[in-house]
Amino acid sequence: MLAPDFHAAHLVAPDFEPWWRDAVTYQIYVSSFADANGDGIGDLPGVTARIPYLARLGVDALWLTPHYPSPGADGGYDISDHMSVHPDFGTLHDYDELLSVAHAAGLRVLIDIVPNHVSEQHPWFLEARAGGPGARERFHFRAPRDDGAPPNNWQSLFGGPAWTLDEASGLYYLHLFSPEQPDLNWSHPDVRAHFEQILRFWLDRGTDGVRVDVAAGLLKDPELRDNPGTYTPGLFGHGPEQVHTWDQEGVHDIYRSWNALLREYDHHPASVGEVCLADLSATARYCRPDELGSAFTIELLKTAWGAGEYARAIEGPLTTFSEVGAKPAWVLSNHDKSRMPTRFGDGHLGAARARAAALLLLALPGQAYLYAGDELGLPDADVPAHARRDPIFHRSAGERLGRDGVRVPMPWTAGEPHCGFSARPDAPLYLPQPEGWAAYAAQQQWEDVHSFLNLYAELLRIRKTSPLFGTGLASIAADGDVLTVHLRDSRGNAGRCVINMGDDAVTTPDAGRLLALSHFDVWAFEGLLFLPGPSAAWMIDP
Ligand code: GLC
Ligand code: CA
Repeated sequence: MLAPDFHAAHLVAPDFEPWWRDAVTYQIYVSSFADANGDGIGDLPGVTARIPYLARLGVDALWLTPHYPSPGADGGYDISDHMSVHPDFGTLHDYDELLSVAHAAGLRVLIDIVPNHVSEQHPWFLEARAGGPGARERFHFRAPRDDGAPPNNWQSLFGGPAWTLDEASGLYYLHLFSPEQPDLNWSHPDVRAHFEQILRFWLDRGTDGVRVDVAAGLLKDPELRDNPGTYTPGLFGHGPEQVHTWDQEGVHDIYRSWNALLREYDHHPASVGEVCLADLSATARYCRPDELGSAFTIELLKTAWGAGEYARAIEGPLTTFSEVGAKPAWVLSNHDKSRMPTRFGDGHLGAARARAAALLLLALPGQAYLYAGDELGLPDADVPAHARRDPIFHRSAGERLGRDGVRVPMPWTAGEPHCGFSARPDAPLYLPQPEGWAAYAAQQQWEDVHSFLNLYAELLRIRKTSPLFGTGLASIAADGDVLTVHLRDSRGNAGRCVINMGDDAVTTPDAGRLLALSHFDVWAFEGLLFLPGPSAAWMIDP
């Protein structure tokens, strides 16, 4: 007889490898990807039209950032209807079409599930505001303190208190993000049931997986006690200072039930959590066999460029995730963070480091996430203040620039209106494209063997065919400026990714064969590997 806590996970053969375990997923910020109908906003038919591009690039899956109806207070992460498509992006029919075209091209499709909060325009919140019986219980409404202050000291991640006064009721409501994104009360059965319905709605259509937004935030301290510290934007990864807001034990039960739901589907849907916690072992707990498939590792996003620093940022997740039988979901860029060439120092240096980083990211065992435009080497764009949309910019009165610079329309073809993003020359773009964007256009990059795009395509091609890169067991070594990721597969094949993270050239002994290089000046000859600074190579033992 099975013990009552015996989960379905244990029934799966240990050597079962779901498709997503080592998948490379390409993140699409829908508004800025491709505009098919010429209104200046990216849309689902635009994505569908670019499926051949993604297939040629060689990724395994794509992830759409929220494609649902939304007033747009937080770039679509304020959802007013979870079982429909934003009219700017198309229709459900367009979604199904995208799915079938992607599947025909061998690509899987993940969507964003945003369970922590809804839009203030969501019917539930409208009901709550109108004072419908019981309607407020689906959110966190609380009376002010005696002096009229908010119920506790929690801060919004976008700046200011996490509480806003609802004038009509005289109560405050909780929002960890903008006031237009009230937090749901996950202790309420309606909330749980609703999200199961949402998951089924999309999985039934053939959706291949979900990225779970703010996954560690759903439950809050039941007494809503003051946090011992305060959130500051510099803190990337929530820790003890916010012990009552994040990572409450009960949240794991939610993912256990989602895991069971996902397992009902034969196509093995993926699930990856945005678990932004400072404590890696707390993050890894979300990836136990009966919870989420994986979680993003934020370490590489917040680590300064340097071999020792990167070695630690890689070793940590590798060890802690393996303790729960999972592999990390590596990420070096997304729609919330400065793009690699900019983060790494701009100009030639930033670009060279970003190319080397591509070899690193795609060598690591586990899932890898690319953000649209990484493969073009896009830097952050300058966005004029009047065009900025991000609530982070507006709520900080411009003190924090926010994320618009990494969300501007993609350059597809030089010489076309809006670099081919939108066919109509006078289309009012979602966000303006900066001067000089044509230099990064995808079409032109295909024609240049040394381009970023051809580098990514080549790495993805090797990753698909080699048993080592992206899959093999890894150990990490840092020696001066040189970081080495050693890879080994079950058949004893060995190889490595060697990265010279310094600015000066390095020559190291290496008897392997050169498989991929970030810079045309990298060479391997007579047992030596030469790496200009910065650059990287994939080596394989004979
Ligand atoms: C996640 C998203 C971010 C969004 C926030 C609130 O962090 O990545 O874009 O603003 O959640 O939903
Ligand atoms: Ca459009």
